[in-house]
Amino acid sequence: MTVALIGVNVSANNLSLLHFFTAILNPLKKLEELRSRRWFADTGMRGFAHRQRMQQQGWRREDIMARPMVAIINTWSDLSPCHAHLRERAESVKKGILMAGGYPVELPAMSLGEVMVKPTTMLYRNFLAMEVEELLRSLPCDGVVLLAGCDKTTPGTVMGAFSMDIPMIFCPAGTMLNDRYVKNGVSRTVGAGTHTRMFWDDYQAGELDAAELQHLESRMTRAPGTCNTMGTASTMTGIVEALGLTLAGASSVPAMDSAHTRMATACGERIVGMIWEDLKPSSLVTRGSFQNALAVQMALGGSTNAAVHIIAMAGRLGIRLGLDDLDAMARQVPVLANLFPSGDRLMEDFYYAGGLPALMKVIAPFLSLDERMVSGQTLAQTVAQATVLDAEVIRPLDKPVSQAGALAVLRGNLAPDGAVIKPSAATEKLLCHTGPALVFDSQAEMLAAMADEALECTENTILVLRNAGPVGAPGMPEWGNLPIPKKLLKLGVRDMLRLSDARMSGTHYGTCVLHISPESAVGGPLALVRTGDVIELDVSQRRLHLQVPETELASRRAAWRAPKPLLQRGFTRLYQQHVTQAHEGCDFDFLQGNQASPEPVIY
Ligand code: FES
Repeated sequence: MTVALIGVNVSANNLSLLHFFTAILNPLKKLEELRSRRWFADTGMRGFAHRQRMQQQGWRREDIMARPMVAIINTWSDLSPCHAHLRERAESVKKGILMAGGYPVELPAMSLGEVMVKPTTMLYRNFLAMEVEELLRSLPCDGVVLLAGCDKTTPGTVMGAFSMDIPMIFCPAGTMLNDRYVKNGVSRTVGAGTHTRMFWDDYQAGELDAAELQHLESRMTRAPGTCNTMGTASTMTGIVEALGLTLAGASSVPAMDSAHTRMATACGERIVGMIWEDLKPSSLVTRGSFQNALAVQMALGGSTNAAVHIIAMAGRLGIRLGLDDLDAMARQVPVLANLFPSGDRLMEDFYYAGGLPALMKVIAPFLSLDERMVSGQTLAQTVAQATVLDAEVIRPLDKPVSQAGALAVLRGNLAPDGAVIKPSAATEKLLCHTGPALVFDSQAEMLAAMADEALECTENTILVLRNAGPVGAPGMPEWGNLPIPKKLLKLGVRDMLRLSDARMSGTHYGTCVLHISPESAVGGPLALVRTGDVIELDVSQRRLHLQVPETELASRRAAWRAPKPLLQRGFTRLYQQHVTQAHEGCDFDFLQGNQASPEPVIY
């Protein structure tokens, strides 16, 4: 069997033909066993009404009665620019489903455009997961194609589909195109996110004028698709590919490449075969698949956000994964993908270099190669067909992008349940640093202080932000990359040690200790830190320590009062009552575990 690989011109028709004949000649699942038959084969009045209403939309009775129904969960919206092309892609997916003998239905879901949603899309990741699970549960879906990619939409849709446990395939939105910026005759590659912060700091320091900034505003994100740096979007789609849930190479295809359209069609074809084969997440994804996903995260130099998402996704299949698993993998697998913010290239370059299958071929010694993919192949068969086409972008094991890993898990009296840092995107000398804390209780207070040119601080000061965790913010926003104080920016300082219970955008860089757990709003030790206290970080020892005697901490703890919740109603209240801590993945306590989502009662 063959599959569509990056750089290899293999027709997806091979897939559809194979699965067409599998379905017709030797289906594992029989037509009468399809989930959708509970609706359409019903001999009572309800079945009569269900068939009636589908024919109202122009479908023929024989289509409804003979084909599996395939949902396309589409996270398109007018306020989700990374997904601007997903309505067109949904049409390509439908084409594939029809060609393979299925019956496509498109279901819109919360789009979660990362840059637009306030206070943070993370507040709604679990909302999207619930929406996907309930859409699939309440409607006559036999399988699903997930169309997503912008940061939280990947874990959100996958978590929901895992809980529903029907055949699924993930169709990544694809990344946006590169841009180039010319200054003083020097041209350089510019990508989303990483350069947004770089240029903003240059502007604050007076090194970039307003006209240049306005020009960049119109250029830096010049095409539909997800961020083209190794931010959370590309990290998560890479992880989902490593879990075996996409077609080979799918996570690296640029959104505006015609290969992306063909990949979408191939997803539609393949899901029909998966339905007949009854290939569900619970039978496809194992602990070994998650180990592969961790290895890929580290080799990509992936976003720290993956730490919460991957633990939450594993939890939905009842697979226990913890921060120690991530740290152990980070110690073994070096950063090999030369991509911002750890390196200096963009996702389009990664695609030309061979994409994720080529990277997985390089890290094959760390992978569980017997794991199966949605294609029906093993991972070993998939990577055997891959080739590294540019060793400057996908480095060999003996020439990593960074000696420091993509992730380190820290512990100590300041983070008993753990905290994370991305050493490969940090300043090396700050990875072992001791200094006085400057503490902020809210983002507003912190931002006002950073703009104050009289702020008392030096480059050795450790900036601390609290009340920014899952419960405290709420939603654990990406505030952890605290801006550098304006007065220090003007002196040329571009990095400082920063600590918080928040997250950081995967596109950003800097020496930022994140996800401190338990968070301050539930009484974690971060709540006890005072300005002037000395904090010690030693990444090589995985140590984060507050140099305050335990007796003093005990008296501060006795005096501590939990902050009042900001909102008393709606989804935010539900979120604050049920969200778990960062080291547990921030899923809702009532959604963790692998109990099957119950089938609805049908009247
Ligand atoms: Fe959508 Fe970065 S804003 S992927």
